[in-house]
Amino acid sequence: MLIDTYGRVATDLRVSLTDRCNLRCTYCMPEEGLQWLAKPDLLTDDEIVRLIGIAVTSLGVEEVRFTGGEPLLRPGLVGIVERVAALEPRPQTSLTTNGIGLRRTARALKEAGLDRVNVSLDTLRPGVFKTLTRRDRHQDVLDGLSAAREAGLTPVKVNSVLMPGLNDDEAPDLLAWAVEHGYELRFIEQMPLDAQHGWKRDGMITAGDILASLRTRFELTPEGDEARGSAPAERWLVDGGPHRVGVIASVTRPFCRACDRTRLTADGQVRTCLFATEETDLRAALRSGAPDEEIARVWKLATWGKKAGAGLDDPSFVQPDRPMSAIGG
Ligand code: 5AD
Ligand code: SF4
Repeated sequence: MLIDTYGRVATDLRVSLTDRCNLRCTYCMPEEGLQWLAKPDLLTDDEIVRLIGIAVTSLGVEEVRFTGGEPLLRPGLVGIVERVAALEPRPQTSLTTNGIGLRRTARALKEAGLDRVNVSLDTLRPGVFKTLTRRDRHQDVLDGLSAAREAGLTPVKVNSVLMPGLNDDEAPDLLAWAVEHGYELRFIEQMPLDAQHGWKRDGMITAGDILASLRTRFELTPEGDEARGSAPAERWLVDGGPHRVGVIASVTRPFCRACDRTRLTADGQVRTCLFATEETDLRAALRSGAPDEEIARVWKLATWGKKAGAGLDDPSFVQPDRPMSAIGG
């Protein structure tokens, strides 16, 4: 098992398939993009499947989530999903995407064995979408979302980040829209993971702000901690249910104590936390011909060194060098 010194067990693996993206969300990337990882540094499809296989068959990983950058940009995605869904025991599989291109691939992903998707969408207004993401692709995301629902990649979850002065007035509209379309909406507090290091604690929209805004139009009842488990989202029933809304208060109410995540970057580094400042190189082990047992041992050792928490609210917090797009959400 992947266990740490605080007794937490990592059963949820997030795999970044590429650091590239076709959007430029202001809270993530600068307009000009970033220096992308070089092709030889990226894990090949075979290397990714082998590492996931070790995690699932020898290390107790039960859930595999594919992330990016934008994972739909990875040419071999459908094949990777197919091979991972065929592992024994079969892990739960999901994909976090910006939704662009999902209209074309949703069916193939479902047929390959993908269980669910999380689609990022911060606004219902095309003009605001263009300002936030620096690309005029709002309709593509909406089309991708409905294709995902029709393909049965359900429950389809929608992730929204609220940015002051841009879309911070949209929480109730987003929720009404999500209820109407049968998407499960989760708001994520903006985290200090942008490549430009522009995040400021003072400026951010907090979970408290989001809930207050939602309560102007909806009655929210807490779901309770039992239902939450190790999920980072706190959830509320909307107007008595059954629809729910989630809030991930990564900054103001971090949930590190119950964290069950381990992460693999597109260039084969294990990260025990989004905010980790250290990484462990599995690619070097892979490419030096190490057997599965040795790779499993290195992964376990990395997990053992996992820190208690990220300490975002602590003045001594240091932002990791790798931006969100190169870690995976
Ligand atoms: N803070 C919070 N969420 C972020 N995401 C990307 N960057 C940040 C950030 N700095 C979100 C995306 C996507 C998920 C992977 O993480 O919007 O929904
Ligand atoms: Fe791309 Fe996601 Fe970053 Fe937006 S937040 S630029 S969709 S990786």
